Amino acid sequence: MGSPVVLGIESSCDETGAGLVRDGRLLGHAVASSMDEHARFGGVVPEIAARAHVHSFTPVVREALDRAGLRPADIGAVAVTTGPGLSGALQVGLAGAKTLAFSLGVPLYGVHHLAGHVAADTLEHGPLPDPCVVLIVSGGHTSLLLVRDLARDPIVHLGDTIDDAAGECFDKVARVFGLPYPGGPAIDRTAREGDPRAVRFPRPLTGQRDAPYDFSFSGLKTAAARWAEQHRIRGEDLPLADGAASLQEAVADVLTRKAVAACRAHGVGTLVVVGGVAANSRVRALAEARCRSAGITLRVPSLKLCTDNGAMIAAVGDLLVRAGAEPAPLDVSIDPSAPL
Ligand code: KG4
Ligand code: ZN
Repeated sequence: MGSPVVLGIESSCDETGAGLVRDGRLLGHAVASSMDEHARFGGVVPEIAARAHVHSFTPVVREALDRAGLRPADIGAVAVTTGPGLSGALQVGLAGAKTLAFSLGVPLYGVHHLAGHVAADTLEHGPLPDPCVVLIVSGGHTSLLLVRDLARDPIVHLGDTIDDAAGECFDKVARVFGLPYPGGPAIDRTAREGDPRAVRFPRPLTGQRDAPYDFSFSGLKTAAARWAEQHRIRGEDLPLADGAASLQEAVADVLTRKAVAACRAHGVGTLVVVGGVAANSRVRALAEARCRSAGITLRVPSLKLCTDNGAMIAAVGDLLVRAGAEPAPLDVSIDPSAPL
């Protein structure tokens, strides 16, 4: 008998995700997003997100099963995000996952959301080399990690953002620029027509005496807001494409420069870039160019696995099952501010 089919559930923010993985192979997954419902508020509203998870949970699990050609009885283990994330949103996923695990009589595994982002890449590119450096860039996180065996070894934080996450910076600046939410994709699209050298935005924490792997994006956000304000005061139209391209260039420059430096300093030959911001076209292009010239192998999951999804949680569950990890007790709780 091979290893069991693992159902992964993700509900930490505005995406309800379910995925099915067995032996490192993705069998099927489905995601429902409540993003449109938050758009008019300019950010995720926790109450709305939680209610949307209740609405979508069962249909999303059923859709993932249908896509995999499986039935509930085929599920051999359930993995669920326990944190970090919005508490109301996490509770819905955990309650659903517990109910499924209990009624199916299968083990339940609690999964850290960021470990899920890291594991997403294994579904397309196979097991991660040990060690590798992982850059996690999303709306809530910006971290550089040293990853060994995901199922057994603790993840080592090389650096983190000291204020805003990179995605948050995109989202907030987009709002100032009058672009729709979520801001990252909107900035990416707008930047296509712009000149990345038009505005010289700062490159925070890249000085010699600064923390080598920490990030800071709130100053960049302020600089972009000031730039927009100056145009408004002068009564000029905002050269939006140039502003978006220049902002995107600054973010991509800092992220990739530090990630490649971390690989070099730790003698690591593989960089993995994951999280929603890994979808950014300039982050991808610059990471590719810099890794190529440094002789580093770059791994980036495809767009649908970069943003929140259940397949990545199932991928961690599958690793835990195969490593013989202890399942979670059925009274396990969420950990909204879980450290990695
Ligand atoms: O990983 P994710 O779906 O959710 C978490 O935050 O955990 O990431 C969402 C973030 C948002 O801030 C969004 O603006 C950003 O990823 N994002 C992008 C792009 N696509 C999504 N940022 C820049 N360029 C993109 N193409
Ligand atoms: Zn995420």
